Amino acid sequence: MDLEPEQIRAVLARAREFEPLVHGPVAPDPASPCAGRVVANLFFEDSTRTRMSFSLAARRVGAQVMDLSSTDSSVNKGETLRDTAANVAAMGVHSLIIRHKASGAAALVAQALRGRFPLSVINAGDGRHEHPTQGLLDAFTIAESFGRLDDFDLSGLTMGIVGDVASSRVARSDIAAMTKLGARVICIGPPNLVPGSLKTLGCEVAHELDPLLPRLDAINVLRIQFERHGGTGGGAHGGPPALAAAPAPVTAGPGGGIPAVSSLREYAELFGLSLRRQEHLKPGAIILHPGPINRGVEMTAAVADGPRSVVLRQVGHGVAVRMAVLDLCLSVTQR
Ligand code: CP
Repeated sequence: MDLEPEQIRAVLARAREFEPLVHGPVAPDPASPCAGRVVANLFFEDSTRTRMSFSLAARRVGAQVMDLSSTDSSVNKGETLRDTAANVAAMGVHSLIIRHKASGAAALVAQALRGRFPLSVINAGDGRHEHPTQGLLDAFTIAESFGRLDDFDLSGLTMGIVGDVASSRVARSDIAAMTKLGARVICIGPPNLVPGSLKTLGCEVAHELDPLLPRLDAINVLRIQFERHGGTGGGAHGGPPALAAAPAPVTAGPGGGIPAVSSLREYAELFGLSLRRQEHLKPGAIILHPGPINRGVEMTAAVADGPRSVVLRQVGHGVAVRMAVLDLCLSVTQR
């Protein structure tokens, strides 16, 4: 996420203004700078939350929405991402919202269209790289939970990100957003899912969850991303290839000596968030998950639906954050 801390705070402050509208009727102000603008969803990967909330956010700020999906478009005839985006842009849309399995996809489109079309390009998740609006909505949710909505200063708070961080664009955007707002971030998981190289992003890395539980204010529990691990199936362990095929022993590096986990059952035993583990969190600690949840793997159903879970609040804030992002982007796009 390239935004400076003050730019992040400005987006979140705008989202706070939109928040009361999220559950109201869709009756946007006709004088809104977004009125009459058109945004196009270009989603080449599956999505429930991001796609629907961008669509709803666009309507709530007065824009119209077009949808293109990879399953029924000319992408299936071999058209490239760049050509697809240029053709949609040529129709006169004002913003392209792009999700793609390739890291850098939205940046590539933005670069290809720069100076040719007066529009903005919004990254709705690119491969393992970034998911900026998820990072922003997670920051909003934490700020709300700890009474920091006035300044979005998260200093003094510690966020744990647990699970398949190596595959996670959400983790990278969370690390960027949280550390820029002053929080401490610790990525936690087995070495094959949480490599030490993540420290270059400004977070800490740990390979045991239980000793850290009493120190976390917020814990973001990530899905094991089966689809990004390669291979063809779960193998004899019944787990994803990256777990099933993990060489043993894999250590955490000098002084680490922590073995990689090799099965989903082992993963759930060591890192899955259960009611028993939840009891060791700080009294006011909250539990986040970007969705979709694999119940029984990264967290139990009782935790996902329990009183510390803010999962559905995250989803609601996602609409306000995306309204803010669209409002800012469409306001600066030339008429
Ligand atoms: N959090 C998130 O990106 O969910 P979707 O994949 O359903 O959009």
